[in-house]
Amino acid sequence: MTIQQAISIRKSIRTYKDEPISEELKSELKKYIENAGVPFDTKQRFILIDTDITDKKVKLGTYGVISGAKTFICAAVEPEERYEENLGYAFEKIILHATSLGLGTCWLGGTFNKSGFSEVAGLKENEIMPVVSPVGYTGEKRSLIDRALVMGAGSKNRKNWSELFFNKNFDTPLNKDEAGCFKDALEMVRLAPSASNKQPWRIVKDGNTFHFFLRRTTGYRGLIGFDIQRLDIGIAMCHFEAVINEQGLKGAWIDGKSEFKNVKGLEYIISFKIAD
Ligand SMILES: Cc1cc2nc3c(=O)[nH]c(=O)nc-3n(C[C@H](O)[C@H](O)[C@H](O)COP(=O)(O)O)c2cc1C
Repeated sequence: MTIQQAISIRKSIRTYKDEPISEELKSELKKYIENAGVPFDTKQRFILIDTDITDKKVKLGTYGVISGAKTFICAAVEPEERYEENLGYAFEKIILHATSLGLGTCWLGGTFNKSGFSEVAGLKENEIMPVVSPVGYTGEKRSLIDRALVMGAGSKNRKNWSELFFNKNFDTPLNKDEAGCFKDALEMVRLAPSASNKQPWRIVKDGNTFHFFLRRTTGYRGLIGFDIQRLDIGIAMCHFEAVINEQGLKGAWIDGKSEFKNVKGLEYIISFKIAD
């Protein structure tokens, strides 16, 4: 399966078959998790935990959001500069790999019992666990709470190109023709998952350089103890670079912070420069 196919078929799965994933898939996933590369130099590790072999005294709850899942991928990170982008980037790579293996996943940044998961995963003192994801075989029928969440977040919808992508500056929306050979990479950013489906990424194309900005949702920052919308940017970065690479192009992440101050309530995060 190509990256673009994985991105196109992925959606949040909250209802799972009551069946553990095969040892073969589990070991494949484990191998991948240990080597998921990231653009910045921060420390993160990912741990697979099985709910069945866990001491029953520890609660691995998801407030009823996830049903049937027997395995979870947990993210343990040391909070330092750029950890959010790196975490979003690496965790989404893992999610897409699980998708390509035929497994369902669902980013969970809020609806899980952090202390229970942290204990079972063996979180160290200097680490935090911002997100986890169930991983397993997709259930046949969505639960009621699953359907309500999909409806509430409008999860099936995505913003139009004109709201997300711009040409040279924020006054000029970028259309697909102008995007040229970068059309697919941008379209795959558009389809990305984000917390509450807020889709906070905005990208300005300037020749062969793409500037990534964050359009913050008011009142969202700090609501759950970490900057969740910067994870969304990491997810967008992952989709963009993975598709660019799949198309045989290369490039690098560069920090253009000195060039961009906050523009119209948008926060500059990072740029991607395509190699000549
Ligand atoms: C960083 C992040 C955190 C999320 N946290 C939760 C969560 O706590 N509970 C939940 O049910 N869904 C959560 N989601 C899933 C989003 O609601 C979902 O990705 C979005 O609505 C788009 O739907 P889709 O994934 O089916 O395309 C999260 C997604 C992201 C990217």
